Amino acid sequence: MKHLLNPLDFTVEETNRLLDLASDIEKHPDRYAHLCDGKKIATLFYEPSTRTRLSFEAAMMNLGGKALGFSDAANSSASKGETVEDTIRVVSCYADICAMRHPKEGAPYVASLFSRIPIINAGDGGHQHPTQTLADLLTIRSLQGRLDNFTIGFCGDLKFGRTVHSLINALTRYSNIKFILISPPELKVPDYVRDDVLQGFEYEEVTSLEEAMPKLDVLYMTRVQRERFFNEEEYIRMKDSYILDAEKMALAKDNTLVLHPLPRVNEIAPEVDNDPRASYFKQVQYAVYVRMALILTLLDLAPELN
Ligand code: CP
Repeated sequence: MKHLLNPLDFTVEETNRLLDLASDIEKHPDRYAHLCDGKKIATLFYEPSTRTRLSFEAAMMNLGGKALGFSDAANSSASKGETVEDTIRVVSCYADICAMRHPKEGAPYVASLFSRIPIINAGDGGHQHPTQTLADLLTIRSLQGRLDNFTIGFCGDLKFGRTVHSLINALTRYSNIKFILISPPELKVPDYVRDDVLQGFEYEEVTSLEEAMPKLDVLYMTRVQRERFFNEEEYIRMKDSYILDAEKMALAKDNTLVLHPLPRVNEIAPEVDNDPRASYFKQVQYAVYVRMALILTLLDLAPELN
């Protein structure tokens, strides 16, 4: 039984096969409409979510299956003190696969040790968000035509942004990627990302989005993660560090992809939404295809592609 806990759990070959499957699903959704008839996904969300939970449920329904779960720990027996270990032992009796989001780093890993069904990490604290990474990779590959030879800028809260940590991890396995890390000094990537993950790769840490813009093939904007701050005043001081607007977009290349895992708060002005380079809502659609491909792969139901 395989789980997805970390973006590196799949090899590059397995990841590429999964992205190929997602692209085939996009082209031929009808061929996949009944591959999960009779199957159930449990979505155990101990933290708020719109996209990840609903797209997992939509993905399973698109495959003919059903979904059950909770969207708030307060409505589950976690509020009475039940452990993740016990919860997953129980949920293994109800469902065939489980997507779990939890505020504690490593909670989905703990669940995997006690589970009889595949566990998908749907975001654990400020740590990792591997299925957002799969969605990001599919979006870049589909819209840019490749997963190598480009410069990507990560902008905003690089300290707490788990989607950033996961995508940097994943991209280090492709050729000739240059990383520009754009953040205030207080929100730089954690030491392990700089000193371990990015060791041997070309990267720079800067504070100016304007100066970075002309160099970027992909701009990955992120929200300042209010829920991870210990101090509200510090959040208020940081929250509008970067606001992408039409004036800054004028500095970018004609084909720069603008991505954002969403939700956005204030960091992309609505005027950017109609710019053809703004791809964050397409990213949401790609996430459904890739989560369909992931469910099929982990349930060992993925068909061979010609
Ligand atoms: N991108 C993402 O994880 O969004 P949600 O928090 O709404 O699931």
